[in-house]
Amino acid sequence: MARILFVTQEKGGVGKTVFARALAEAVVDARVIEIDSSSRLIELGDRVQFFKMRADREAIERTGGKAARAEFDDVLSALERAKAPTIIDVGANTSITLLTVIQEIAPALKASGFEFAVCVVVTTEHAALAAASSILTASKSWASAQFMIENRLHENVDPEWLKKHNKAVTATSFEQQVLEKGADEILQTGGLASIAQIDPVLLREKYGIGPALRIQKDLERFRKEAMDAVRPAAEWLVG
Ligand SMILES: Nc1ncnc2c1ncn2[C@@H]1O[C@H](COP(=O)(O)OP(=O)(O)O)[C@@H](O)[C@H]1O
Ligand SMILES: [Mg+2]
Repeated sequence: MARILFVTQEKGGVGKTVFARALAEAVVDARVIEIDSSSRLIELGDRVQFFKMRADREAIERTGGKAARAEFDDVLSALERAKAPTIIDVGANTSITLLTVIQEIAPALKASGFEFAVCVVVTTEHAALAAASSILTASKSWASAQFMIENRLHENVDPEWLKKHNKAVTATSFEQQVLEKGADEILQTGGLASIAQIDPVLLREKYGIGPALRIQKDLERFRKEAMDAVRPAAEWLVG
């Protein structure tokens, strides 16, 4: 029995993994389930359980039906065993099918004490907006809470769209982050967890004092703002 939060959006590259990592930073006893074609959350060690989805997910989705849904059976078994708050980082082209499956099993799991929430990430692209609407509608009946993070990765999302969609939803925003050269590499390999552990001496040796200080500052701001964006969802996770 546990609280389970899905970080979702069909579109890739919108920040789902960033926010899953920020949630893992905020809720230190949470477990993480990563569903993707390759694993990225290496830094979380045995807190994370990885479920491989086929890279040609989009093609599977088009064929629809059974094969696509059966791929989630191992994920469902892991959910059923969850004892701690659980963050699910759902890879691209996977959210809608997964949430359809969750809708089917939600009543049984809720009856044994589980609670579900979704955190949908939205960016300004048309496909991301359309998928966010579908995800919010599809999860309304079984999610105890819905969160939406506007990621201003490219530009701000149309305020009219946001107004229409954030009625029953707790909405936050994440600004576009400008990163000093070198910072992104650290972020990709070590996630947010590595930022607090950066050795300033090693960083200076590698990049020189000016860039090293900028890298550190940029990464600390990235981590803080990402954690601010997930705060309402993190608070829900801990109950
Ligand atoms: N607001 C932002 N500003 C700058 N870079 C961002 C922002 N949000 C996400 N990114 C970067 O965009 C890339 C894609 O993010 P990621 O979390 O991997 O997306 P997803 O999991 O949805 O595919 C990563 O390199 C991430 O660090
Ligand atoms: Mg991802």
